[in-house]
Amino acid sequence: MKNIVVLVSGGGTNLQALIDAQKAGKIKNGKITCVISSNPNAYALQRAEANGIDTAVIRRKDYAEFSEYSSALISLLNDKKADLIVLAGFMTILGEDVIKAFKNRIINIHPSLIPAFCGEGFYGLKVHECALQRGVKVTGATAHFVNEVCDGGPIILQKAVAIENGDTPEILQKRVMEQAEWKILPMAVALFCDDKIKVINDKTTEILD
Ligand code: GAR
Repeated sequence: MKNIVVLVSGGGTNLQALIDAQKAGKIKNGKITCVISSNPNAYALQRAEANGIDTAVIRRKDYAEFSEYSSALISLLNDKKADLIVLAGFMTILGEDVIKAFKNRIINIHPSLIPAFCGEGFYGLKVHECALQRGVKVTGATAHFVNEVCDGGPIILQKAVAIENGDTPEILQKRVMEQAEWKILPMAVALFCDDKIKVINDKTTEILD
């Protein structure tokens, strides 16, 4: 059974999707053992507590140097015996030492079809604003491993979502979450926990039985 540690910063609807998938028996070989937030007021922490999941808070601003913050985060993740780390709306950039310490063991959910609308500065509602501004007809979400390049790690799963007339960033964000993020994130986590993802040359393949 793999220990899943989920990193959050806000509302935590993706965390909720993981909790629901776990309750429904869809993540057979993993258990959410801890939720770590960058923000003490994140609603995601209440979701964790309501489900009896251990929580912790670690804030970048409590450390003078970025390297000290990274070391503290690595220690915390090691204390929690994390086998898999999930970034579910986690809005603090991870340092290279954290990424190296957990190579191909950190999964992020991003609200677009990478490589569109991704990289530094593309997060949350901003991603959907840019998609609407560009006038694309299809967007979606991507679950991927985290490497040193922002949103550049091996892609695990993607799901497309149609853009509709009259969409606002808020309406589109909700549709992308409902139709894509909340589905592919638990699926990617389940595949990882089942040891079904192989990474070769920065690309993933699913190991079939
Ligand atoms: C989600 O849409 C997630 O894809 C996005 O933030 C939102 C968090 O919502 N993440 C990023 O933009 C990362 N670049 P949630 O707290 O309700 O899960």
